[in-house]
Amino acid sequence: MDRNADAPWAQFDPEVYVDLNYRVPLEVDLLIVRLMRDHFGRCFAGGVPAPMRGVDVGAGANLYPGLAMLPWCEKMVLLEYAQPNVEYLERQTSPEGYDEAWDAFWNELGKAPAYAAVEPRTRFSEIVRVERANLLDLDGQRRWDIGTMFFVADSMSECPEEFRRGVRCFMDALTEGAPFAAAFMKESVGYQVGEHRYPAYRVNEDRVRESLEPFVSELEVHDLHHVVRPGHEGIILALGRRNSEIAVP
Ligand SMILES: C[S@@+](CC[C@H](N)C(=O)[O-])C[C@H]1O[C@@H](n2cnc3c(N)ncnc32)[C@H](O)[C@@H]1O
Repeated sequence: MDRNADAPWAQFDPEVYVDLNYRVPLEVDLLIVRLMRDHFGRCFAGGVPAPMRGVDVGAGANLYPGLAMLPWCEKMVLLEYAQPNVEYLERQTSPEGYDEAWDAFWNELGKAPAYAAVEPRTRFSEIVRVERANLLDLDGQRRWDIGTMFFVADSMSECPEEFRRGVRCFMDALTEGAPFAAAFMKESVGYQVGEHRYPAYRVNEDRVRESLEPFVSELEVHDLHHVVRPGHEGIILALGRRNSEIAVP
């Protein structure tokens, strides 16, 4: 069984990954972006309570979760383990601004008034910082007020304990009441990026619910039946807020 530490993360190719997944925006990603935008909009319908710090865990070569948090945050950090992805993200957050590939996702976000008021390229480079970090080392010492984790806990290991630990570490990184969005590939048997193969743990809606329920309130799980490549059966999007329970190690 491939564990997280066994996979070739140092060889992860972010440009190939963007070509495979995001260069041509897929309908399912645009749907996810709308669902996430509306979820965060509902959470802050009464306004943002205080300056908020956001986190995207395992950000990899995907900016849309971070873009979805942009209007609500004073500061944001993109945590990522694979060094080539860290470098990709550093380029995307530089003053030159992120690649045009991400405009399609912002266009969808910008249809809501809270987003339309933001100039995303400048703001992204001003408030977002990139940090190399291992999700499995997040131990609750640092917490953020809004967070996302897209295709990470399920797409980094074949090991059931590492999946559950990944979800728990993400939840432990959120403050009480923090809105979050997390996405999972349904029944994934692993994935190829260029010449390298990466592991996955097979999840379905029930497994996602079970793993999240101890930590969340107002959980909403969307079982999206879009298949984007061979080797999985859809996408599961979980939206909610962190509850007040302290996670048990
Ligand atoms: C399938 S990709 C998802 C990337 C991106 N979030 C997205 O939505 O496309 C899995 C990501 O998890 C990252 N990853 C793998 N193990 C990790 C770990 N232990 N801690 C943090 N990130 C990790 C990988 O480097 C990769 O960027």
